Amino acid sequence: MQLRGRLWLAAVLAGMAMASAAGAASYFEVDREFYPYYPSLLKWEKSKAEFTPPETCGGCHPEQYAQWQGSVHHLAFQDPVYQGELNKGFKAVGHEVTRQCEGCHSAAGVVTGEIKGPGITGLSPMALAGVSCDICHSVSGVTHWQTPSREPENGSMILTPGVETEQGVTLLKHGPLPSYEGCGGGFHDCVESPLHLRAELCASCHQVYHYEAHFPLEATYLEWKHGPYAQRSILCQDCHMVDTDAFLRSANDMVRPQKGEYRHYFNGANYLLYYLAQAAATKAGDPELAASIEKKYTMSVDRLKAAADLELSPVYRDGRLAEVLVRVRNLRAGHNLPTSLTNVRQMWLEVVARGDQGEVLMSSGTLTDKGELPEHTREFNSEGMGDNFHFAIDPWVVTAFSRHDTIPPRGYKDVFYGIPPLAKGKSLTIEAKLRYRQAPQGVAEALLAAVPADINLEAIYGLKEVPQLPVVDMVVKQAKFGATGK
Ligand code: HEC
Ligand code: HEC
Ligand code: HEC
Ligand code: HEC
Ligand code: HEC
Repeated sequence: MQLRGRLWLAAVLAGMAMASAAGAASYFEVDREFYPYYPSLLKWEKSKAEFTPPETCGGCHPEQYAQWQGSVHHLAFQDPVYQGELNKGFKAVGHEVTRQCEGCHSAAGVVTGEIKGPGITGLSPMALAGVSCDICHSVSGVTHWQTPSREPENGSMILTPGVETEQGVTLLKHGPLPSYEGCGGGFHDCVESPLHLRAELCASCHQVYHYEAHFPLEATYLEWKHGPYAQRSILCQDCHMVDTDAFLRSANDMVRPQKGEYRHYFNGANYLLYYLAQAAATKAGDPELAASIEKKYTMSVDRLKAAADLELSPVYRDGRLAEVLVRVRNLRAGHNLPTSLTNVRQMWLEVVARGDQGEVLMSSGTLTDKGELPEHTREFNSEGMGDNFHFAIDPWVVTAFSRHDTIPPRGYKDVFYGIPPLAKGKSLTIEAKLRYRQAPQGVAEALLAAVPADINLEAIYGLKEVPQLPVVDMVVKQAKFGATGK
């Protein structure tokens, strides 16, 4: 008996060895020499030329600096929601894995080795500045064809802040303009870079893959590339690096902005982060910065409100009102709606139908007192799962989506709501809202509770507790339908 048991065990062990040998020839092969910061796919052409903090660039480029200051890119590293998640990841899987996060949220701090984990204490202005001037304008190329997924992912770009020459160190800034003698005011040389006029500049960071499984957790670039805007050459820059008017023109008419219309706002949908940053600027006694961030808040709410539309129509069956159809259109997002962190963001329908006396006949999607969504709310987002097929939310665990229900660019989704039978001659008034927030209340509370010890939410943001997250009504529509359609 014992012998048979041992044989069985040996067979199992041999089987496991074979399985792991087969596993060694991984589908997503990683060249560790080529990618020394793996799982971040950054590359750095190292020289004595150092990265320059944004304040220095701002001295000669004050407009770009003022637009970028307080932007989501500026806040990418100090963002308390990011730091909370990073800290959780650091504790769960360690820095060998969370280096991946830092590669996109503060690339310079990763290649120089300055960032060693969560927290902000003792870091240089360059590391703290997140996605700053000298990240984008040091990009000299991309390695999108050599990555494990053979697509842009996880920071797959090359940073060359400068070169060593016989004269010493020369800083190189890559940008859209043709280079000329003296461009750069003696501080830097200019390099004309066609890449900066392409979405591929943004792609390296706006395609987030699981650190090992290379599952696309955030796929904004590919959603865009496989949609109608890419086909008409309307780029990320044409909607996110312009004022609201120019964005509307890019989206409506699919014509590109004029040369002089580009701005350094990088404005998207994250009004919550602006809300926090504005509170921090006010608390730090900088009303000018607070006012500039308030404008960014308004711009992101405006973008969200412009993104979608709702259409309500009645469905009659045997001459009786049976259902109401709510069609949700992605009017102006160049990618799916919502995009990026779709397994955390929430976009949902709240629908309330009333009878002639104002009595509620049907309702769905109204937040509870605790700020949670009720069951069976129609949401447009995704749900992540780990290798065990169970629900998961953390990016180091999620290796697939159990549900992915976002709306493609210029596309729509239909939702049908059943209506209780109405008596003849009666009518029904229906109100539908498309609502958005950055995260479920509980998730936001958990992340902010997990910030590293050197981020004091009360001292920096004046937060004693996490208030109910603000919700933006992207679209509100009403309609009235008769019981028999007459
Ligand atoms: C390939 C680049 C990239 C990598 C790698 C990456 N992120 Fe991000 N992260 C982004 C981008 C881009 C966004 C913005 C998406 C959006 O606004 O929906 C983002 C947003 C976030 C947010 C939301 C912030 C907010 O204010 O709502 C959190 C939290 C976050 N990332 C945590 C992480 C963690 C933790 C890791 C590592 C496990 C990680 N990220 C790895 C690019 C990256
Ligand atoms: C996320 C990447 C990114 C960041 C961060 C960034 N830039 Fe740019 N920058 C661009 C792109 C893309 C263009 C080209 C815009 C166009 O004309 O299409 C550009 C253009 C420029 C130009 C050329 C003139 C103009 O405005 O078009 C200057 C100068 C410049 N940036 C300076 C800065 C400074 C200073 C900062 C920091 C305060 C900064 N950039 C941060 C991507 C970036
Ligand atoms: C001493 C002043 C000075 C400083 C400091 C400076 N620049 Fe410039 N930069 C210039 C001048 C002058 C030009 C010429 C074009 C113009 O006037 O915008 C220029 C042009 C540029 C361009 C356009 C180049 C092209 O080929 O498209 C970019 C991008 C740029 N700078 C980025 C930066 C960044 C990033 C920093 C900080 C690391 C920086 N600059 C610091 C003076 C400066
Ligand atoms: C036609 C205009 C348009 C183009 C092109 C476009 N976007 Fe957007 N983007 C929007 C609008 C509108 C929103 C706000 C609605 C939403 O969240 O999707 C948005 C939102 C975002 C967000 C925030 C998502 C969230 O909910 O947190 C990110 C990140 C983003 N875009 C990145 C990109 C990148 C990267 C590209 C290019 C690959 C791009 N966008 C191309 C219009 C555009
Ligand atoms: C070095 C990596 C990197 C590059 C390059 C980059 N981004 Fe980002 N971007 C990020 C990260 C990280 C965030 C999210 C920060 C956060 O939420 O904490 C972000 C956020 C954004 C947002 C705000 C999303 C929101 O929810 O409001 C927009 C819009 C955006 N990026 C557009 C662009 C565009 C356009 C380009 C190219 C010109 C670009 N990005 C290039 C890393 C990058």
